[in-house]
Amino acid sequence: MSGARVVVCVGPGGVGKTTAAAALALQAARSGLKACVVTIDPARRLADALGVDTLGNEPHLVSPPTGDWPGQLWAVMLDAQGTFDQLVSRYATSPSQADAILRNRLYRNLAGALSGTQEYMAVEKLYELQQDPRFDLVVVDTPPAQHALDFLEAPAHLVRMLDNRVFRLLMTPTRAGVRVLEMGAHLMLRTIAKVAGGQVVADTLEFFSQFDGMEAGFRARADRANELLRSGQTSFLLVCSPRVDAVDEALHLVVRLKGAGASLNAVVINRSYPRFAPIADPARFASSALGPLVANLDELAQVAASEDEQVARVAGALPDVRFARVPLLAREVCDIASLAEVASYLGEQAE
Ligand SMILES: Nc1ncnc2c1ncn2[C@@H]1O[C@H](COP(=O)(O)OP(=O)(O)O)[C@@H](O)[C@H]1O
Ligand SMILES: [Mg+2]
Repeated sequence: MSGARVVVCVGPGGVGKTTAAAALALQAARSGLKACVVTIDPARRLADALGVDTLGNEPHLVSPPTGDWPGQLWAVMLDAQGTFDQLVSRYATSPSQADAILRNRLYRNLAGALSGTQEYMAVEKLYELQQDPRFDLVVVDTPPAQHALDFLEAPAHLVRMLDNRVFRLLMTPTRAGVRVLEMGAHLMLRTIAKVAGGQVVADTLEFFSQFDGMEAGFRARADRANELLRSGQTSFLLVCSPRVDAVDEALHLVVRLKGAGASLNAVVINRSYPRFAPIADPARFASSALGPLVANLDELAQVAASEDEQVARVAGALPDVRFARVPLLAREVCDIASLAEVASYLGEQAE
C-alpha cells in the first residue's frame, strides 16, 4: 500500500488525544515531514490556533509562529457531512444522481442519524488524506466515542449496513425486489407513514432508489479503508493519563485493538504531576512556616508514586511499546507554543 504513513491516536475520553495528535503532527513538521492532523473535537481555542473550522473540509497549512519548520504542518477539522457529500459525488453514476441525493431531506439528516457515521467519515477522510501526495504523515484524532474502537470498526459497520437484507432490497429495485417490497413492506411503510408522515416515507424510498448503483463503490472503498487501518502503514498511539480509571479503560482498549488486528506502537502518558526531590526528615518542618509546603510536597510525592504504579501497569501490558510521558503543563494547551512544548516530550514518536 503506497501513500503517507498514518498514526491513529486512541484512548479514553478527556486524556489528551486531540492535543497529542496535534502535537505529534507538529513534531513531525519540525523534523522535516509534511504532516497533516485530522482533529475531531478540538477545543475552540486550539481550533483557532490551528486555523481550522467546521466549514472547511480541506486541510489548511499552519504557519509557524516564529522562524520556519523544515517540514509542513497541515490541519483539518472533520466535517462528517461534507465528507459524506464528497463520497456521494465521487460514487454517483452521474452528476444529476449526486445532486438528487444531496438534496434529499433524509440524506441531509443522515450524518447525524446513522450511528457510527462520524467514525466512518473520520476513516474516510483519513483514507483520502493518506493517498494525498502532499503528505508524508497523517495523524488522526478519534471521536470521543464511548467505545473508541468504533473507529476501527466503522468501515465494517458500513459494509454490514450495505449487506443488510432490507437495505439491499430497498437499494435494488429489481422486479422481484419491487414485488417483495410491495407485498412485504407495504404494511410496514403504511405504519411508518402513519407515525412519521407520508413525506418521510416518500423521502426514504426516493433516497434508497437514488443510491442505486453506488453501493459497490462505497463497499470497495470501505474495504480499502479497513485494510489501511490494519496495514503496516498504520500505527495506533495510545494516549492515557496515569490514573486508575483511565488505565483500566486503556488496557481494555489495548486488548480489543490487538484482537481487531491493529498495531499499537507507542503510548503517551499525559498529564503527569511534577516530581520533586524528596526532603530529608520532613518532620523537622512540621511546626515551621514551611510546614504546609512540605506537607504539600509529601502529597505530590504520593501522587507521583501512584502514577508510577499506573504507568507500570501499562508498561507490563505493553512490553514492546515505546513510551513517552508528558507532564501536566501549567496552562491549557491551546496555542502553537504550548503544543510545541507537549511535542518536545514526544521524542521521535513520529519516526
Ligand atoms: N499535558 C497537558 N497539560 C495541561 N493541559 C493539557 C495537557 N494535555 C491536554 N491538556 C488539556 O486537557 C483538555 C483535554 O484535552 P484533549 O486533547 O481535548 O482531550 P481528548 O481529546 O482526549 O478529549 C484540553 O483543555 C487540553 O488543553
Ligand atoms: Mg478530543
